[in-house]
Amino acid sequence: MAVNSRLSGMKDLPIGERRARIARSTSVEPERLEVLDPEQGLTLEQADHMIENAIGVFGVPLGVATNFTVNGRDYLIPMATEEPSVIAAASNAARIARVNGGFTTSTTEPLMRAQIQILDVADPHTARLRLFEARDELMALADKQDPQLSRIGGGVRDVDVHLVDAPAATYVVLHLIVDVRDAMGANAVNTMAEAVAGRAGEIAQGRALLRILSNKADLRLCRARAVFDADALGGPEVVDDIVHAAALAEADPYRAATHNKGIMNGVVAVVLATGNDTRAVEAGSHSHAVDRNGRYTALSHFEKDSDGNLTGVLELPMAVGLVGGATKVHPVARAAVALLGVDTARELGEVITAVGLAQNLAAVRALAAEGIQRGHMSLHARNVAVTAGATPEELPVVVARLITDRAVRGDHAEKILAELRDKA
Ligand code: MEV
Repeated sequence: MAVNSRLSGMKDLPIGERRARIARSTSVEPERLEVLDPEQGLTLEQADHMIENAIGVFGVPLGVATNFTVNGRDYLIPMATEEPSVIAAASNAARIARVNGGFTTSTTEPLMRAQIQILDVADPHTARLRLFEARDELMALADKQDPQLSRIGGGVRDVDVHLVDAPAATYVVLHLIVDVRDAMGANAVNTMAEAVAGRAGEIAQGRALLRILSNKADLRLCRARAVFDADALGGPEVVDDIVHAAALAEADPYRAATHNKGIMNGVVAVVLATGNDTRAVEAGSHSHAVDRNGRYTALSHFEKDSDGNLTGVLELPMAVGLVGGATKVHPVARAAVALLGVDTARELGEVITAVGLAQNLAAVRALAAEGIQRGHMSLHARNVAVTAGATPEELPVVVARLITDRAVRGDHAEKILAELRDKA
């Protein structure tokens, strides 16, 4: 069933009705979403199998971003995040992108690298060539570790050899380049690297030390672009100011870090919701943010098109999978993948990159147009009011007062509550 991601008014519904609407808008059975209840999600037993010394389960809110169209198809996006405003901001940016058809994406093949570090090599330059000469043997040895991967069309595609000058020595570093298909790939490439390391050490006439994937997944890139309508953004001045705001991020690493953090707000929320490795994607992204001259810069770029609209582009390394790991084990991640409705790791990566671009645009627009605090304040005020002990009935009054008094603080919330209860 084709999904319609244009679900307005979600925020005004109780959680149960939101879920029912999501189930109706996707082909997911309502019962599949029951695991989203904290009592029914990850069990202690499952947690105990996932990590060591488990003592419990940590809850993070899971929400759904609306309005997304990616490559002409609508998606409802599960996002796990503790940060207020993130999901509303992504949905809002996706609504603006929709005016011009939503997000368009593309992806490279799912190629991951494993590295094998070889030391104590007398003639590194010659060893490098000896390793290239043994390409077929090394590739066959690696492929033998994972015949199933070769059967489904993956497997080792190439080898590369880098000479890395470090203060202590010149290391010969063999890279295995592996098509991991729908896996995140860490297990597949690590097994191959371990199997090949001994022989690679022999060929290089040195000693193999590290054998591990590289999280700089620069051969596995997802790209997303969108045109954001100038009027929907708030007019031509807002477009110009967003271009200036983004240009600062490209030129200044202090701003780039924050700008990229805004992208990660969206990216990590979907990566986490789908049970993928958030740190792998973050490590990949931040290494990708370093340009050819070694400068840390913005991951996205914004410019004005010939119609005066804003165009945004984002390219990210995207080591995510749909097979193995928590994606398959964690019941909530499984439900999240089902409601997202993606069939391949490639599709998942493309949706994640579109969310990253939406999140980025939303943050930069808010900063350029009105500052971020106004949007943040009402959710922050809710948190403060709840922490101060406001009941659901008292909440709207306390939140409104905290904002109009421009004093969103715990002590003030307590004072307002005391006044309210005195009057009652
Ligand atoms: C806050 O979580 C993210 C922002 O700081 C991102 C940005 O400044 O672009 C708002």
